[in-house]
Parts: sequence; structure tokens; C-alpha cells
Amino acid sequence: MAKFGRLGPGRMAFKVTLVFCTFSILTLLSILQFAPSRLILSEYPVRLSPLQIARTDAIVAAFQHAWDGYSKHCFGHDTLHPVTNTCEDDFGGWGATAIDSLPTAIIFEKENVVIQILEFIAALDLNKVKGGRRIQVFEVTIRHFAAMISAWDLLNGPFSYMATGPSLRSALYAQMVRLGDILSCAFDPRSGVPRDWVDPALCETDQGVQNTLAGVGTMILEFARLSDITGNQTYAKLARRAEEYLLRPQPASGEPYPGLLGSFISVESGQILGSQGSWGALADSFYEYLLKAYLYNSDLYCFYVERWLVAADSTIRFIGSHPYGHPEWTFLPSWDGLNLQNSMESLSWFAGGSFILGGMVTDNQTLVDYGLSIADATGAIYESTKTGLGGEFVTWTTACETSDENPCDPKKSIHISDGRFRLRSEVLETWYHAYRATKDPKYRDWSWAAFEAINLYCRTETGFSSLENVHAEDGGGKSNVQESFVFAEVMKYIYLIHLETAQFHVQDSRAGTKNTWVFNTEAHPLRIAGPPQ
Ligand SMILES: *[C@@H]1O[C@H](CO)[C@@H](O)[C@H](O)[C@H]1NC(C)=O
Ligand SMILES: *[C@@H]1O[C@H](CO)[C@@H](O)[C@H](O)[C@H]1NC(C)=O
Repeated sequence: MAKFGRLGPGRMAFKVTLVFCTFSILTLLSILQFAPSRLILSEYPVRLSPLQIARTDAIVAAFQHAWDGYSKHCFGHDTLHPVTNTCEDDFGGWGATAIDSLPTAIIFEKENVVIQILEFIAALDLNKVKGGRRIQVFEVTIRHFAAMISAWDLLNGPFSYMATGPSLRSALYAQMVRLGDILSCAFDPRSGVPRDWVDPALCETDQGVQNTLAGVGTMILEFARLSDITGNQTYAKLARRAEEYLLRPQPASGEPYPGLLGSFISVESGQILGSQGSWGALADSFYEYLLKAYLYNSDLYCFYVERWLVAADSTIRFIGSHPYGHPEWTFLPSWDGLNLQNSMESLSWFAGGSFILGGMVTDNQTLVDYGLSIADATGAIYESTKTGLGGEFVTWTTACETSDENPCDPKKSIHISDGRFRLRSEVLETWYHAYRATKDPKYRDWSWAAFEAINLYCRTETGFSSLENVHAEDGGGKSNVQESFVFAEVMKYIYLIHLETAQFHVQDSRAGTKNTWVFNTEAHPLRIAGPPQ
């Protein structure tokens, strides 16, 4: 607590938010009511307008197109290169694309694909790793592990009529638990901090001395869910113990602003190493999961949302900035201690959605509006390029910097400093949340425009490829990468923004509706275990 005193605002946010964490008789009652046996039957399929039907059909067709390409050329491998039709095993060869696609295939009601993937999972030997001995804990947790858990929840909930074969379902369960046990090997027995590489056959880790904020702080949802499904709290306890170091960070220099941390953790001591950080790579989903852990179980993970609110408050007060001439748009610089750098990478665009979700959950319009100002900045960037797609990095100026060739022009205050398009989903995720909060059709239209641009510039015979340059007429050429998140996230968020109602949709407590599902950072919906928020 003393540490919040270093900068006053954090303490204030902390006080304000305590109200979310008061355990009351009411919350107790709602836990009792929310017994798993009381599954709400699907409101799905739902009535859609002709425009929505045309769009969702086109997205499902795009999924099928890419699935067919992967399935024909690389089924069982991790990744298809969609220009050369060559395969890569970049995640240990456990069919990352197949497994990561499973929840999307379920939600799109592609039962043949669902069964094909479930059969693959049933036959997978998790002791064997292709091209080495180790798997990467962070990537396998958010992709394979979360996809299996999500599939379990979806198939036992709104999609219970699909893939009903009992042997497929019990194999999914067994592999999900086996994978949870493998990932549990990552945690250092002394400190409890996980390392990032595990040998599944020997249950041994690498000897790395540090991990990232995201690597340590992106396990709580998946591990807690496995514990609640299996009734074995071992998994949740492992993730919670590691997270403690991030919730109460030491030393003080590792938390340059209240709630905002440096990006590396010592495995031995759990201390934060350095004070460089951002809402982007190495850190991103740590912040995302502070909020989402609370959504998952609002009784157990109250302190997590308090910390998210502190981080959000600091971001507004000390970090966020507006490009010259556009006070209505917000960008989030990275930090090195108290120095800020006006550069934002596409991974960190999810922050808009996180602010919007946090604002909806805590009924705070300031937070929703702040998230929308980030969403609108990304929309402006997408609209500004020749392809209609955003790049990998943007930089901006906050003051009018006049020179001979650069008169004071608001149009020139934002610059795409890295024009590659890597088919990332974070912008689509933020627009999805923006739509859920506002129902403003502009977010649907942006999402659809991005889909059309992807179809136009990225589509190949077998899938969708990354691009070299969003500013070139033709996208600057295809760079031959189609990560599994194209199936897991890109397709799903574009689809979901056009779907009127679904059990697993993000809800808006300002409108009196509560979340009964929560999306992991790879867009895999998990059923929540605590009182809905
Ligand atoms: C819970 O899971 C852990 C890790 O797999 C295992 O060692 C333990 O035996 C399990 N406990 C029970 C009661 O099944
Ligand atoms: C809403 O969030 C803002 C930003 O963190 C904070 O200043 C304000 O006090 C919050 N409002 C309420 C009612 O909690």
C-alpha cells in the first residue's frame, strides 16, 4: 500500500475501486445461483439483417477457404505459408493452426472441421515435440491450451448439439488436462515464477533467468478455468502464486507509474527487472488479464481489477497522448522510467478494447470514452493508407513542429513508421468492444472494410498472407506468413462484431447485462466461474 503513495493518483484510484471488492451476501447468493447445472440454452442462431447475413456468410467462407488450404497442404503442422504452400512447425509441431481454429470452427458451426480437429487432438502425442524438445509456455497456453478449454466450454454449453461423439469429447478432456500438467512444469519450484520453455516428456524447463510480464501474467484465466472444470485447484494456485509478484511489484523502480511496470521478471526472485514497459509486446496481456481475471471470478480476483484500474488511471494521467491537431484521438507511448517515447505498435491497440471493457464492467464512462478515443485513432490510421489496412508501428507528434517542408499540418502529425501488415487482430478486437459499448455502426463498417481489404490484398490460393507495405497500391507484396491467430482471432472478431446476440458476447453492465463468458487473449471464450459482472 505504501508504494501507491509515491504518486498520489494511484492511491485515489485504489480507494475508488474498493467498492468492487466488497464481498456481500448478494454476491454469495449469485454464486449459488450460478451453478453449472443451470446452463442457459443457446440464443443462437439469431435473427440477422440481410446485410449481416451476407457479411457473416462471407467471413465463414473466408475461414473455410483458409482452412481448406491449410488442411490440404499442412494439416497437423503448425503453420501454412500461404504463398509458397510450405509448412512450418514453429510451435513444436502440435498443429497450432488446427487447434487454435477449433473454437472458431465451433462458433461458425463447421461441424466437419470441428470433428477433424477433435480427431487430430485425440491422436496427438504431447510427449513428442518436432524440431527440438521444448514447447513455448506462453504461446501454447494462449493458443493450444485455451483453445481446448474453450472448445470444452462451448461444446458443453451453447454448442452441445455439435460433435457429440463421447470418445472425441473424453479425448479432448484428457488432452486438455495432460496439457495443463505439462504447462504446470514451467513454474520454478522455489520462486513459483514460470519459465518460458518446457520439455513435456521430462517435465523440465530451460534455465532462463528472466521471463516477461506477459509470460508470467497471462496464465491466470486458463489455469483457473482448468481448475474449475476439473475440480483440482492445483493449476489455479500455481498461476496465482506467480501473479503475486506482479500484483505487488518490487522494487519500486519496477513500477515507474502506479500499476505500470517494467516488462521483465527475475525467475529466481520475482523482482521486476528495469523500468521499460508499454501496453505492447512483452507486457500486453498481463494488463488485459488483470481485468479479465476479475470477469472470470469477481470474488476471487477483486484485487486484480483494482490493479487494472490503477494501471488504467495512470495511463490516462501520465502516459496517453493526443497527436497534434487531434485531441479526440489517443495513442499510448512506451515508457522507460519517466521517459516516454511516442511510438505504438499494433499489438498494443488491444488497449482500446481493454479500456472499453473495463469501463463497461465498472460502469465508468470516462474509461469507455478513453478506449473509444484509442479505437477512433486506429480507425483513422486504417482509413489513411492506400490499402485500408494499418501498419505495425505508428509514431506521432503532439506539438506543431514547423519547418520549411513541414508546415503546421495536423495530417502530418501521425506517421506509420513500419508499414508491414502482419494480419494482427488487436484493432479488430478493439472495434468489437467499441461496437458492443456504443452500437455505432461505424465500427462494424471499419471491421468490414478491413475484411474486404484482407480479401483483396492478402488472399492467396490457399489462405491469407501478411503484406510488406500498407502504403503501397498492392500492399507491397505478400510476405507469406499466416499465423494461427488469423483463424482464432481475426476471423472471429470480424464475425462477432456482426452478430447481434450470443451467450459468449461481451456484455455491458451499464445496460444491465452481465458477462457470463470471458475471452482469453487469443479470443477463445471461456465460461466464467464467479458472480457475473
Ligand atoms: C491435481 O493436479 C495435480 C497436477 O496434475 C496432481 O499432481 C494432483 O494429484 C491432482 N490432485 C487431485 C486431487 O487429483
Ligand atoms: C472513472 O475512471 C477515472 C479514470 O481512472 C477516474 O478518475 C474516476 O474516478 C472513475 N470514476 C468512478 C466513478 O469511479
